[in-house]
This record gives sequence, C-alpha cells and structure tokens, in this order.
Amino acid sequence: MAKQDDIFKNVISHAKEYGYIFPSSEIYDGLSAVYDYAQNGVELKRNIREYWWKSMVQMHENIVGIDASIFMHPTTWKASGHVDAFNDPLIDNKDSKKRYRADVLIEDYCEKLYQKAQKEIEKAKKRFGEAFDEQEFITTNPRVVEYLAKKKAILERMAKGLDTGDLADVKALIEELEIADPDTGSKNWTEVRQFNLMFGTKLGASADSAMDLYLRPETAQGIFVNFLNVQKTGRMKIPFGIAQTGKAFRNEIVARQFIFRMREFEQMEMQFFVKPGEEMKYYEYWKDTRYKWHLSLGMGAENYRFHDHEKLAHYANAATDIEFNFPFGFKELEGIHSRTDFDLKAHEKFSGKKLQFFDNETNSSYVPYVVETSVGLDRMFLSVFSKSLVEETLEDGSTRTVLRLPSVLAPTKAAVLPLVKKDGLPELAQEIIEDLKWDFNVAYDEKDAVGRRYRRADALGTPFCITVDHQSLEDKTVTIRHRDTMKQDRVAIADLKSIIENEVSMKNWLKKML
Ligand code: GAP
Repeated sequence: MAKQDDIFKNVISHAKEYGYIFPSSEIYDGLSAVYDYAQNGVELKRNIREYWWKSMVQMHENIVGIDASIFMHPTTWKASGHVDAFNDPLIDNKDSKKRYRADVLIEDYCEKLYQKAQKEIEKAKKRFGEAFDEQEFITTNPRVVEYLAKKKAILERMAKGLDTGDLADVKALIEELEIADPDTGSKNWTEVRQFNLMFGTKLGASADSAMDLYLRPETAQGIFVNFLNVQKTGRMKIPFGIAQTGKAFRNEIVARQFIFRMREFEQMEMQFFVKPGEEMKYYEYWKDTRYKWHLSLGMGAENYRFHDHEKLAHYANAATDIEFNFPFGFKELEGIHSRTDFDLKAHEKFSGKKLQFFDNETNSSYVPYVVETSVGLDRMFLSVFSKSLVEETLEDGSTRTVLRLPSVLAPTKAAVLPLVKKDGLPELAQEIIEDLKWDFNVAYDEKDAVGRRYRRADALGTPFCITVDHQSLEDKTVTIRHRDTMKQDRVAIADLKSIIENEVSMKNWLKKML
C-alpha cells in the first residue's frame, strides 16, 4: 500500500513540476477537489478529447456532435430523476469525524476479496503451468469459489439496500463486515444518509424573481432534450448517435484522489438511439468498440477490466464499467449504459412535447432506446499520465524519469535543440521550428548541456528531440532522438515532417482499433 501511495504522490508532484496540473487558486491554499490544467496539461487534455471525438464523430457517419449549455431548464433535472435520486449514501466516522461513501467502503472490501481470489489463481497458474485451466479452477477451487461468492452476495445485499432505501441494512452490512475507517481503524459509525450531489445556483437579478438552477451533473441531458432537433435538422435515421464533451459538476462527498474524483470535471458522452429491442446488440457493440479505443493507446490490456453493475442506476437495464488499474487500484474509467427509453419518455412527460422517431418503413412512431458511452476526460488523463510515468534504470546504472505518453497525445511532439548557442546553430534550429510548427506543437530549448535537455524532454513526455550541430550547417541533416528507446538517427531536415507525422498521426493510432 505504501508503495502505491508513493507512486501516486509521485504522479501528483510530477504533474505539478512539469506544468501539467496545478491545484486551483493555489495562492489561497487551493480549493478541495478542484484543479487547473497547466500549459502542458491543457494540450494533453485537448489531444485526448480530439482522439475521442475523431473516433466517435468522424469515424461514424451516423454520429454527430453538439455542444449544449451547462445551464438547463430546472425541470430537466426533475424529469431525469436527478432531483429525487442523484444521491450518494454517506456515512461519518464518529471518532475521526471523517466522511465516507458507504457504497465505496463496501466496494473496497469486495475488491480485497477479489484480489485474494486473484492471488490464488496466480499461484495456481505458476504451479500448473501450461496445463492450467483458469475457468475450471475458478469454478472448483473452494477458496476462490468462497471469495467470489462472498463478494457477489455482499454487493447484491448492498444494491438491494440502496435500491429499496433500506439504509439501516447498508449500515448493518458495514458493521457485520467489520469495516473500519481506512485512516484510523475506528469502527464507530453514524447512520447512513442520502446526499444529493447537484450544485444549485440562481438565475436572475432580483431575489424574488430569481430562478433556481442546477449546474449540470452530466452532459447527457443536453443531448436528450435536443434529440428531435438533431434528428430532424440532421435528417438522422435510427440507429444514430449524438456526441458531446463538456463540463459537469457534482458535490462529491469524498474527493481525495487528485483528478480522479473532482467537483468540476469534464465528460465525453455519446447517446446512441436505437430501435426498442435492439439495445442489447448495440450495448455489446459499444462495449467492444470502447474497449478497443482504450487498448489502441497502448497502456496494456492487463490494466483494463469490465465490471458489470449489480446496482443499476434509476435509468438503466444493463450497465458496465471499464475499469482501469490506477495507482490506487482498479477503478471506473468509463461507463456503458443501456438507458432504455427512460430519459426521452420522462422529457416527453414533463415537457408535454413528443420526442419520437417516425419510422417510414412501418409508418409508425416510437420512443427510441438509448445506449450511452460516458468517459471522464480527467480520468482518461489520469489513466494515461499515471501509467506513462516511469523511472528507468539505464545500462550504465543511472536512472531517468520518462513520461512515455502515447506520442499521439503528447503535448509537444518535438524539442529542437541547437548543440551550442552560437555559430548559426540557434538560427537553423529556429528555421526548423518555423517549418514544423504548421503541423505540430514543437519547442525550442537551448539552455544546459544537451544531455540534460534530453532528460527534460523525457520527463515532459516529448517523443522526439531534434539536435542541430555543426554538420547540420554543411549537409542539412540533424539527429533525431526517440524518447522511449533513446536511439538516435541522422536524418535529412527535409524528412523530419514525415518521420514525426508517421509516429504521431491520429489516423495511424486510430487504425489500431481495427
Ligand atoms: N451520463 C452518465 C454518467 O454521468 P457516470 O458513471 O456518473 O455516468 C460517467 O459518469 C463518467 O464520468 C465516469 O465513468 C467517470 O469517468 C466520470 N466522472 C464521474 N464523476 C466524476 C468526478 N467526480 N470526477 C471526475 N470524473 C468523474
């Protein structure tokens, strides 16, 4: 655990030191669970957003994008169920005075059971080698069966308690499992209470006429209320999707994990409208497609897993999370939900307007079903950033810190370095920048010895360093150094653009999904 904590602390300090993420309003001691993206962070975030947008909107001719407002008519949230049901169950520890989400405490307990089962599986794998049949072992080994059955029973009981509002049983479960405050070990708990996560605000100048509004807790509702506008003006035929990226706000009870759980964050969501009865087919399609998108970034398949929901949200008939192995363990990165016709029907009811698709083939109208994919942009950032940050020991025994970001997402694609600050080398380096900057973010660096500049570029995650030396003046060649292998090649200046393009183009990376 200490090791995990150290890795995570290192991620947070690296993000600050190298201009990726700063605490918000730091000069006033910051604001809890609110962060600012710095000069490099904003580029990485922009690139992740674009990588998502291209894969969803550009690569699917039946998906279009919108950009709806953060403020919405307040009835939206009554219809969507958020006013009544967008709650988290909270529990306080009477001794430490710390507040927790009751469901997270129980889920963390279950994760430990899962890890115990995994350990048994790993041990057996080593023992039996090639002959090992994992599926058979999982279903027959008494210990594994017991761990997994216990996990399932606990999660089912929790889901029932939360669904039926039996919060006393959720507390009873915490006590029976002897779950202690993770910080202090105390088991002295309060009752479990529900807490609505929406932030309220007011619209209007005078106190009497002001209208109560909410900051949107998800971007999805901006898509639902525009369903018919987009369908008609875009002449969209079912099945089709509407994509959107944008800010969402939640008054999170527990927000202690850097940008993993923030009070202001960004979502990348897509609602796919389908014919009722076909939702499971598209649910499977989107599970597969989104999983492949994540894998295309090269973070390693072992770092992702699916987790099907035992407790379904008020709008869903099937739901799964793509979880990622963050520095603090496997946690939700993306949600894929089959939301039925819940939202459109609710908006029909509350607005009195029809939100239906007219099917020319059957000459009839229906309310479409919806399959949603919803990924947090900040969580994507954390997943990529934390897994890319590595401390390497080199052949000569020295160490280097390298941020092995997928080059397609790296904020700066190349650093151009004159070997010395004289003899016309800075001028040639600037000429190269003038040429490359039309296509890529490139940086100039002339301070310190070239070895230190390489290390700085490695820590920043810059995939290429281009070094201009005296030979460059004579034959118009430079060395290009690759961040991950540290290999250096002598290449013509005229070839730089295509070498970089080949490595960083979104097209080449997205093709890995095929
Ligand atoms: N429209 C469905 C929806 O909002 P969700 O599972 O509540 O579903 C979707 O959120 C995604 O948004 C999550 O998988 C996560 O990546 C991100 N997310 C949710 N709450 C967040 C928070 N407080 N901070 C950062 N990201 C968050």
